[in-house]
Amino acid sequence: MGAAMTDRWSIKNTPAMDMEQFQLWQALLEDRTGMTLSTERKTFLETSLSIRMRELGIEDYDTYYEHLMVGTTQTRAMEWSVLVDRLTVQETSFFRHPGSFALVEEFVQRFMAEQPDAANLDVWSVGCSTGEEAYSLAMLINEQFCGNDRKLFYGITATDISLPTLSKARRGEYPARRILQVDPSLREKYFLPSENGQTVSVAPQLKERICFARLNVLDLGNAPMNNMDLIFCQNMLIYFRRWRKRQIVNRLAERLAPGGMLILGPGEVTDWQHPDLERVHFADTLAFRRCR
Ligand SMILES: C[S@@+](CC[C@H](N)C(=O)[O-])C[C@H]1O[C@@H](n2cnc3c(N)ncnc32)[C@H](O)[C@@H]1O
Repeated sequence: MGAAMTDRWSIKNTPAMDMEQFQLWQALLEDRTGMTLSTERKTFLETSLSIRMRELGIEDYDTYYEHLMVGTTQTRAMEWSVLVDRLTVQETSFFRHPGSFALVEEFVQRFMAEQPDAANLDVWSVGCSTGEEAYSLAMLINEQFCGNDRKLFYGITATDISLPTLSKARRGEYPARRILQVDPSLREKYFLPSENGQTVSVAPQLKERICFARLNVLDLGNAPMNNMDLIFCQNMLIYFRRWRKRQIVNRLAERLAPGGMLILGPGEVTDWQHPDLERVHFADTLAFRRCR
């Protein structure tokens, strides 16, 4: 974008969006990602779209909407991929919800005790954002498996709708302050500081156990994951409507191995039951185990 264009934009305010336009964008976002955008977040939508429109030299919302609908499949997909990254909430952290991670620890110990012949633990982090959740799971499982004489392996599939977010996750490089809440012994073992001390990189022994891949949870029917021992899905369903949350957790339940566990965020799904799953009672968690 030329300097003249930048100046022209910088003196302009973000264009106001009327209610009809807002509803159109709301519907598009929900249809493609499942996320609902409340009216309180209209300003957020206006600002995010305006920033992107400015980058493209587009001046009004209708033209940008049109831009997302026309063109080749590839250009439309590329533009949508940029936009979805701007409109989704990617907030995350290492060991974000301690109760859920305490349950994972207990689950892994039980897995080792109850399944003496099992050699492989398959884990899925759904809506993994920039990777902190998947790396936390890897640290925890690695710690349990290291202290065991048996040859045990684990693999983590970590999926998200946002491609830029997944690139960050694969890179596994974080500002040093982001690991301050990680236990010092884990920090020492699993993170390599950069020369200037500003950033840290996740150790290769964790990276090689995780496969980051793009997956929209609205397309779970086509997902290749099956027989998972552990499915961890937190802070994503909160943005979805009740019926859709239920549809998604039903589909996740089908992907569990017998004895496998589904761990959601506390309170994220209420009054949900599945004929093949039983509720796991563990303090401050929302979890289910596949019983058949
Ligand atoms: C708030 S983050 C949660 C990250 C992590 N699970 C945690 O609890 O810290 C929500 C993530 O869900 C992803 N997401 C939103 N809609 C999605 C969809 N339809 N399919 C897959 N991922 C989606 C977003 O891109 C974002 O990275």
